[in-house]
Amino acid sequence: MDNLVSILYIVAFALFIYGLMGLTGPRTAVRGNQIAAVGMALAVVATLISIRDTANWILIVAGLAVGIALGVPPARFTKMTAMPQLVAAFNGVGGGTVALIAWAEFLDTSGFSQFQHGEEPTAPIIVGSLFAAIIGSISFWGSLIAFGKLQEILPGRPIGLGRLQQPVNLLLLIAAVGAAVVIGVRASGDGASQWWMIGLLVAAGVLGLMVVLPIGGADMPVVISLLNALTGLSAAAAGLALNNTAMIVAGMIVGASGTILTNLMAKAMNRSIPAIVAGGFGGGTTAAALAAGGEQKQAKATSAADAAIQMAYANRVIVVPGYGMAVAQAQHAVKEMASLLEAKGVEVEYAIHPVAGRMPGHMNVLLAEAEVPYDSMKEMDDVNGEFARTDVALVIGANDVTNPAAREDAASPIYGMPVLNVDQAKSVIVLKRSMNSGFAGIDNPLFYADQTSMLFGDAKKSVGGVVEELKAL
Ligand code: TAP
Repeated sequence: MDNLVSILYIVAFALFIYGLMGLTGPRTAVRGNQIAAVGMALAVVATLISIRDTANWILIVAGLAVGIALGVPPARFTKMTAMPQLVAAFNGVGGGTVALIAWAEFLDTSGFSQFQHGEEPTAPIIVGSLFAAIIGSISFWGSLIAFGKLQEILPGRPIGLGRLQQPVNLLLLIAAVGAAVVIGVRASGDGASQWWMIGLLVAAGVLGLMVVLPIGGADMPVVISLLNALTGLSAAAAGLALNNTAMIVAGMIVGASGTILTNLMAKAMNRSIPAIVAGGFGGGTTAAALAAGGEQKQAKATSAADAAIQMAYANRVIVVPGYGMAVAQAQHAVKEMASLLEAKGVEVEYAIHPVAGRMPGHMNVLLAEAEVPYDSMKEMDDVNGEFARTDVALVIGANDVTNPAAREDAASPIYGMPVLNVDQAKSVIVLKRSMNSGFAGIDNPLFYADQTSMLFGDAKKSVGGVVEELKAL
């Protein structure tokens, strides 16, 4: 039986890695996900086999039932635009679980002092459990705040203690690590140690809250991925404590891939991870504040008919999709519009910013669903040089990722974040419902530029209107 468990684990790990390879491209992502899910099912079966003699089957079946009941409906029915919140919530649950496992392990071994299953708790069990308790707790509470901000239950702007923030965070970290040291040294399950353990979980939890609350909306994607990496690491530590190879390997894979993704996203937004964690980015200047402080600016409105004529007579059009295209589910209408333009000899391409929408790859997935060819989806670095020789840039529900203030205005909260150089196109048409700001909560000077006109309305309706006009031309 032990050999069977080892073989199942090895097959599961191979499937995790194979599945992860599939996730590197939109064509293979769905299959990759399915392969990794099969790997996870095998790992669960192997774990159940390995604990068959001591398992409490009623509890296990109850746990599986609750997990399925809580996990499947949101995974199936959550809209694509709300996927980051779902990832934050699932991630938080993972971190919370790890912290609870660490706590249970501590209780099970009477504060790491007693024999468990005939074995003395070793250093890896003690250190692994305490590390998992701290990181798991940070990850759970931090993810809850990220969920609240993305779901707009909490304000997206930074909420912090100003100059006191970093000293307070440092104190909380010292408190959590200090409690862990005391627990490890005392090696006792008495009442006092139990309180030290609760103190550790509370200090780490408050630290999780304090780290994420001051982070502004625009940096949230990086934070989620960072929390994801932390949850992976804490799961690996818990695996060490439980002597469960599957948890160690799966945790390390999540930790490593989450770290790589965090780095890539931080690079895409020109942010350093320590600067993000230290807080204070994103949010801030609103349209109203800008209007109050500076000259009154006027945006020009246009109609579907004018937009259709401009594009029909252009040589080259670049479509810039953003979150609003996802909300409006306008991708099919966009594809139809592009086909009509191409039939008229217009060259149509799509410019994809790495954090357009609300999750990595959001725009690629939507456009692929509408059967837009992968070759016409251009990444930011490849397309940015092309705007200057483009007749019309059609911005569909995108805002922050087109904001030239990120390039030009050192006072802007998103200064330094690479953006699509939409403002360099000869003419810009922006499709959105109002002059409201985007996720980062800041005004966008692109909307007031001389070459820009606004086509107000729901993106699907506006594109539908352009399609009708193109058909009539
Ligand atoms: P945003 O800056 O959020 O702007 C989206 C715009 O779409 C809004 O200004 C909104 O204006 C418009 N809109 C909403 N519903 C619409 C509808 N039905 N029809 C037409 N327009 C609609 O989007 P973006 O440019 O894609 O930038 C993404 C932002 O999200 C960045 O700040 C990024 O950091 C953040 N973020 C990204 C991720 C990832 S990983 N991609 C995850 C979390 C957060 P109106 O209200 O006026 O219509």
